[in-house]
Amino acid sequence: MNALVLGARGQLGSELARLLPGAGVTAPIHEKDVIEELLDDRRPDIVINCAAYNAVDRAETEGDAAHAANVAGPAVVAAACRRTGASLVHFSTNFVFDGSLDRPYVEADEPAPISAYGESKLAGERMVFGSGARVLVIRTAAVFGGPRSFPRRILERATSADRIPVVGDQLINPTYARDLAEATLELVERDFTGIVHVVGGGCAGWDVFARAALEEFGVRTQVDSVPTEAFPTAARRPRNGCLDTTRFHALRPWQEALHSWAAEVQQTPPHSSGGQGSGA
Ligand SMILES: NC(=O)c1ccc[n+]([C@@H]2O[C@H](COP(=O)([O-])OP(=O)(O)OC[C@H]3O[C@@H](n4cnc5c(N)ncnc54)[C@H](OP(=O)(O)O)[C@@H]3O)[C@@H](O)[C@H]2O)c1
Repeated sequence: MNALVLGARGQLGSELARLLPGAGVTAPIHEKDVIEELLDDRRPDIVINCAAYNAVDRAETEGDAAHAANVAGPAVVAAACRRTGASLVHFSTNFVFDGSLDRPYVEADEPAPISAYGESKLAGERMVFGSGARVLVIRTAAVFGGPRSFPRRILERATSADRIPVVGDQLINPTYARDLAEATLELVERDFTGIVHVVGGGCAGWDVFARAALEEFGVRTQVDSVPTEAFPTAARRPRNGCLDTTRFHALRPWQEALHSWAAEVQQTPPHSSGGQGSGA
């Protein structure tokens, strides 16, 4: 496979770049000339775009940066794929949904984002599908693995507190970047197109995810489950952010994936990991 991985410094991109040696690049995806030249030079069969603006709260006020990475960038990449005949894999989010359903969201459910981030990611989906390129959009959620992802931030908070409040009434599927990277390559090999939901197996509140992360590291800090209202944020988030994975399959249960990640972290010397995930 002659692949190009865009956003190769991020938590997912770094995992894909590891699986596809030589494929990773960090070019600005919204700069048309740069992307055109890159595809003309490398002539990939497949472009995997992991670059994105994932700062959910900041996106409410940093519309230009979110638009460049999540809307204009995907449009530029998709147009270059269309021109050169490359297939495109692009990533989107559970935040395209409003979270009001009481079951996991399927691919055919109507998106209705309630945040600027969700709106930008939905606009990006529409850009890539409108390009005429051969496109697979993988919607995922609560990706962890990078140094700024949720379990890392919880561990940091726990070092200076006996109790920490964590929201319990927003449900997500914690998704290990490494598992998602492997699943992406399987989807490519199996020629999937359209939209596919790929997340870790099982649906949980952030509080449950936080407790499991602390337990993996033997940290005894207590997690107090609090409602969304106790944690005012700039952006609204879906209450039910869980995705149905019937079209492909669920990744392994998120608790198993968290255990693997924790084992990896505990074996790795500090300052040697790759990604920059923001835990969107
Ligand atoms: N993280 C989550 O919880 C989550 C949840 C649902 C969906 N997703 C989606 O999954 C995909 C992978 O996410 P991730 O967690 O791996 O993200 P990530 O760790 O934040 O990585 C994104 C990368 O994109 C780069 N980037 C930002 N703007 C760019 C631009 N205009 N041009 C080129 N590169 C740019 C960032 O570079 P800098 O670090 O230099 O800014 C960063 O390295 C994204 O499409 C994301 O929206 C993520």
